[in-house]
Amino acid sequence: MDREAGILIRPLRESDLDSAARWAAEAGWTSETREEFEIFLARDPGSCLFAERDGRPAGICVATAYAGHGFIGELLVDRAFRGANVGPRLFDLAVGRLASSGCRTISLDAVPRAAPFYETRGFRPVDRSLRLLGRIEPRFAPGVRPLTAADMPAVRDIDLREFGADRSFFLAQRLARAPDLAWLKEDGGRIVGYLFGRRRAGFSWVGPWWSDPEDRHPEDLPAAFSAGAGGGPIQAGVLEANRRAVAIFDSLGFAVKPNTPRRMMRGPGPVLGGRPSLLAVGTASKG
Ligand SMILES: CC(C)(COP(=O)(O)OP(=O)(O)OC[C@H]1O[C@@H](n2cnc3c(N)ncnc32)[C@H](O)[C@@H]1OP(=O)(O)O)[C@@H](O)C(=O)NCCC(=O)NCCS
Repeated sequence: MDREAGILIRPLRESDLDSAARWAAEAGWTSETREEFEIFLARDPGSCLFAERDGRPAGICVATAYAGHGFIGELLVDRAFRGANVGPRLFDLAVGRLASSGCRTISLDAVPRAAPFYETRGFRPVDRSLRLLGRIEPRFAPGVRPLTAADMPAVRDIDLREFGADRSFFLAQRLARAPDLAWLKEDGGRIVGYLFGRRRAGFSWVGPWWSDPEDRHPEDLPAAFSAGAGGGPIQAGVLEANRRAVAIFDSLGFAVKPNTPRRMMRGPGPVLGGRPSLLAVGTASKG
């Protein structure tokens, strides 16, 4: 609990989820639905800072700590309470929480308008965090099959090595909530790629997506994903410095959506999740 001039900041509760989802919808964040906040709550309510102003729901900010590295996301303030220091207070507490849990490096995706604010807090732009939109013809290539719970230990090991932190809780949530969007590719008994997804209103989000740089047909996985997605629109988040990822989505005919966020960082690099083998992020707010 943290209180200052009528603003109370406390851990997220189940009863706050509707407010958080409404703010995200009002901000036009179509990928950030109630389900996202449910997942954060299930992992650790204490890392989801929720603000009340004079007893009314006022804002949220989520701080996700991995070993040594943290992400800040979902910074949202109710329109009725903007310009009253709720956002900066939430943000500063989230940064403090990550720093005190040992995160030397903190990443976030900033909408262009908010980037100068994060700069005042010591964050620097390191990349453009592209949002891509397209469609893929559904297709099943040899070696591609549904990813199941039995694959998770092997996938977790690869993800730990390639992403650089343990996001297995979030991967397991994706598999449980959208098993038909989780796919794996093998070559000679060896895993050469996996991806997970989430279904949203009017589109499906592909990611996290890992692909062995030696695999010459990485597009086989999103083609199978597209079958699970009913052939409809697909969105992905890609760091622009990842030239392999940009080239693959380009060849699939994906277009960059407007209002591209900046990936910003505080502390020493490298960018967590910045390896060329990671072709699409899970979410901007947690890597
Ligand atoms: C960004 C936001 C959380 C700020 O909360 P707040 O309590 O109103 O805080 P402030 O008014 O002190 O604004 C802090 C900074 O946010 C930025 N900001 C202000 N209004 C904003 C808006 N509508 N959208 C995005 N950023 C905004 C500005 O950089 C501002 O810094 P400045 O006052 O030095 O220009 C709030 O405007 C909001 O919820 N916006 C919509 C969601 C969003 O864009 N979140 C940030 C994602 S990176």
